[in-house]
Amino acid sequence: EGEAAPKEQNWSFGGFFGTFDRASAQRGFQVYKEVCSNCHSMKLMYFRDLTGLGFNENEVKAIAAEYKVADTNDAGEPIERTALPADPFHNPFPNDKAAAAANGGKTPPDLSLMAKARGEGGETDGPNYIYAFLTGFHDAPEGFKVPDGLNYNAAFPGHVTAMPNMITDDAVTYTDGTKATHEQEAWDVVNFLMWTAEPSLEDRKHIGIKVILFLIVFAGLLYAVKRKVWANAH
Ligand code: HEM
Repeated sequence: EGEAAPKEQNWSFGGFFGTFDRASAQRGFQVYKEVCSNCHSMKLMYFRDLTGLGFNENEVKAIAAEYKVADTNDAGEPIERTALPADPFHNPFPNDKAAAAANGGKTPPDLSLMAKARGEGGETDGPNYIYAFLTGFHDAPEGFKVPDGLNYNAAFPGHVTAMPNMITDDAVTYTDGTKATHEQEAWDVVNFLMWTAEPSLEDRKHIGIKVILFLIVFAGLLYAVKRKVWANAH
């Protein structure tokens, strides 16, 4: 049966002049780090990328230093060392099989490009869907049977998902004093996921604005030149 299209949300990054809400996306990174990253990888992300969200180099170093990574020493022996800004985000599972085994047979999908991967392809479709999904864990309606170990979700296709409801009120404590309602957490993590999916979104939009301004000025110039060249034509 068909799901209703996810509700349209008013994202700061939407529209012709869209920009990222960096404070929200930084909180969203905290949600990813403390909640989602227990199951979901972000294979395309490196700690140093976080400078693009407004974290400074010391903050990025400190974030990376919370993790250990496998490496080899100069003698080629395997060692474990503290992660550095140049390392990729921590992957919670060694491989997809292990990830599926730990999650009722379904591999939690990589979230790097998730905001682009879901929806019909419109810019805000993916974000609207993810927000609806994250806030869509409810009790199943009368008569709807949810198999053991699975969960009802209003937005998920078929309404039965292996993902448990992970976003609850106060699942995180925000350092900037923002109240961590489950809606706020969902909102923030979607802002973060849109930034990871298209970090150059602002550049793309700004170029569009400059091109239009240039074309307006250029059209005016052409008109003036035309008037001048043809001024004495009979
Ligand atoms: C699926 C986001 C936390 C396990 C998904 C999907 C998204 C998502 C967007 C894809 C839904 C779809 O295919 O339409 C998130 C976010 C999280 C989070 C933003 C943190 C706020 C977790 C955690 C777990 C988990 C902590 C494990 C305990 C799964 C699994 C699936 C999934 C198993 C596959 C569901 C299925 O195919 O039935 N998640 N997730 N997620 N997630 Fe999460």
